[in-house]
Amino acid sequence: MAHISELIATDIDSYLISHQKKSILRFITCGSVDDGKSTLIGRMLYESHMLFDDQLRLLEADSKKLGTQGSEIDFALLVDGLAAEREQGITIDVAYRFFSTDKRKYIVADTPGHEEYTRNMATGASTADIAIILVDARQGVLTQTRRHSFIVSMVGVKKVLLAINKLDLVDYSEQIYNNIVTEYMEFASNALNIEEITPIPISALMGDNVVKNSKNTPWYNGQSIMEYLESVEVSNQKLNSPFRLPVQWVNRPNSNFRGFSGLVASGKIKIGDEVRVSPGGKTTSIQSIITGNNEEKTASAGESITLILHDEIDISRGDVISEISNPCHEADQFQAHILWMNGEPMIPGRQYILKSNTQSAMLTLGKLKHKVDVNTLSDLPAKILEMNEIGVCNISLDRRIAFDSYVDNQTMGGFIIIDRMSNNTVGMGLIDFALRRSSNIHWQKMDVSKDSRAQQKSQIPKLVWFTGLSGSGKSSIANIVEKKLQALGKHTITLDGDNIRHGLNRDLGFNEADRVENIRRVGEVAKLMIDAGLICITSFISPFESERSMVRTLFSDNEFVEVFVDTPLSVCEERDVKGLYAKARSGEIPNFTGISSPFQNPSNPEMRIDTTIVSAEEAANQIINYIFN
Ligand code: ADX
Repeated sequence: MAHISELIATDIDSYLISHQKKSILRFITCGSVDDGKSTLIGRMLYESHMLFDDQLRLLEADSKKLGTQGSEIDFALLVDGLAAEREQGITIDVAYRFFSTDKRKYIVADTPGHEEYTRNMATGASTADIAIILVDARQGVLTQTRRHSFIVSMVGVKKVLLAINKLDLVDYSEQIYNNIVTEYMEFASNALNIEEITPIPISALMGDNVVKNSKNTPWYNGQSIMEYLESVEVSNQKLNSPFRLPVQWVNRPNSNFRGFSGLVASGKIKIGDEVRVSPGGKTTSIQSIITGNNEEKTASAGESITLILHDEIDISRGDVISEISNPCHEADQFQAHILWMNGEPMIPGRQYILKSNTQSAMLTLGKLKHKVDVNTLSDLPAKILEMNEIGVCNISLDRRIAFDSYVDNQTMGGFIIIDRMSNNTVGMGLIDFALRRSSNIHWQKMDVSKDSRAQQKSQIPKLVWFTGLSGSGKSSIANIVEKKLQALGKHTITLDGDNIRHGLNRDLGFNEADRVENIRRVGEVAKLMIDAGLICITSFISPFESERSMVRTLFSDNEFVEVFVDTPLSVCEERDVKGLYAKARSGEIPNFTGISSPFQNPSNPEMRIDTTIVSAEEAANQIINYIFN
C-alpha cells in the first residue's frame, strides 16, 4: 500500500512544480455511496470540456469503438470510468485528479464513499482548501453527512460547498432545498470550525447549476458549482506560516558540505536566514539553497530543496529545520484528536508507530477523555474507539519530536498511526497541544546503577517471560525455575497473573483493552525488577503478539527470554485444574482465552516448550541452561 505522505510528496509536488504560475485550488468531494460524486465531477469536466488528458484519450478510444461522438454516451462512460477507477484506487487511499481551466489549476481528492473508507476521505481532506459536501435531496442530512463535515472541519477546511443534489428527483422543490439548508446550518453553527458554507441546488446528472445556471431552479440566483470554484478565495496558510523543513535525507551536494533535503512544509526562507534545528535546538544560518540543479536565493512551501548551513551541526532524517524567530516545539507527550480508521478498535495502552512528516516514534495512546457524537457534536464517555470514531486522548512517545499544534500548522501538527504488527495505517491524529508534564518530568539521574545493583548480586539480570494458555503449565514451570535459581544462590522475583490481578491489577478484567493494560503494567514492573538487578520470572497468558513485542522493546537484546509453553487447548481443557474451561464452555465466563478470546502463538520465542513430550522438571532445566549460556 502506498503511504499517504508518499502520494502527497510525489504526485502533488511534481504537479505543483510544473504549474507554479496559476492559482491552485485543492478540493475534496464528500458524500455517501450514491450521492453522485462521480456524476458531479464527470458533469463538470464534460460540460466545461476539461477532461483529464488520459481520460480524454480513453474516451476518444471508447467512443470510436462504439461509433459515437460527443454524445450523452460519452458522459455515461466517463462517469462509469471515474467510479471504477476510484473503487480500484482504495488500495492507494486517495486518488488525486488534476485538471485546469484558464484561471485555475485544480487538484481533486477523490475518495470512495463507503463508510469503511472514511479514512481515505480524511486523508484527502487534510490537504484540501475547500470541501464539496454532497447531499441527496431525497435523503437530506445523514449521519454520514455530519461525520464528513466534522472531519473536514477537524482537519482545517474552512470553506464548504453544500451541494444539494438530485433536485430533479424532487421536482426542483425550493421547499425541500431550504429545509435541508436550514438543517445543515443549524448543525454546522453548533461546533464546526467552518467559516463559510455556500449551499447550491444541483442535479449532477442533468447538469443543473453545475457549470451553467439552470432554468429549472428560477428561485435560485446564486453561483453554479464551477463559478464558485473559479472565484472562491482561499488563503495560503502554508505559505504564510513560519518556515519548516522536515529533513528527508542528508547528502553531499559538493565535497565540502553536507546538504539537508526535503519538502518545505510551510513558510519561506532566504540565504542568510537564521534557523534552528529540532529536536536539540542548535542554531545556525542558511548558506545556500539548491532546488534541482540550481542555486536559488529563496524557497517556499511546496518546493523540494536542499539546504547547506553555515555550521556543521549534527542533523539527521526526521529533524526539522525552522525559522529562528518562530521555531517549532519539542515534546514527547501531547493531547491529540484521533480519528480511528481500522476494523480492530483503538485500544488505550497499546503501542503503535507514529509518523509525522519524516519523523517516527513509538506511540502509546492514553485513556480516552471522550469521543465525539458526530450527530450532535457532543462529547460521550468512551473506553475505546471503533472504526470511524473520533476521540480525544493523551499520547506519549518514546522520544521527543519536533511539532506545531495542528491549528498553527497543518503539516507539522498532523500524524498517522501505524499498527506495529500489520504495518497498516490504522488512525490519524491531530496534535492539540503538548502536555506540560512533558517538559516538567525528567529522568532522575541515580548514582547507584542497574549494573552496580546486579554486580552486588553477582548475576546478570534476566526477564524470563512465560506465555501460554490458562492451564498450560506456565506457573508450575516458573515455580520450579525459581526454586532452582534460588538453590544456585540467585536473586529472583516471580510475577504471576493470578497474584498480580489481586493487587496492582485488581481493577482489570479480561476484555482486550484490559489485557493490554495488564501486560503493559507487568512489563513496566518487570523493568523495575531488572533495574534492581534481579532475575525476574513472569507468568501471564499474554495472548497478544503486539503486547509481548512491546514488552520486548523495553529490554536489551539478551535480557528478554520469551518462553512459549505450548500445550494444546484440548490438553489444557482436559486438565482444567481451576474448572474455568468448563465454566467458559457453558458461557459463564466470557472472553476466555482459547474459547471466546484469541491466543496468538509467538512467532519467534527464545524457547518453545512442548509439554506433551517434556516434563515440567525437564523444561525448567532447559530454561536454566538457556539463561546461563
Ligand atoms: S492475560 O491474558 O491478561 O495475560 P493473566 O495471565 O493476567 O491473563 O490472567 C489469566 C488467569 O486469570 C487465568 O490463568 C485464569 O486463572 C484467570 N481467568 C479468569 N478469567 C479469565 C478469562 N476470561 N480468560 C483467561 N483467563 C481468565
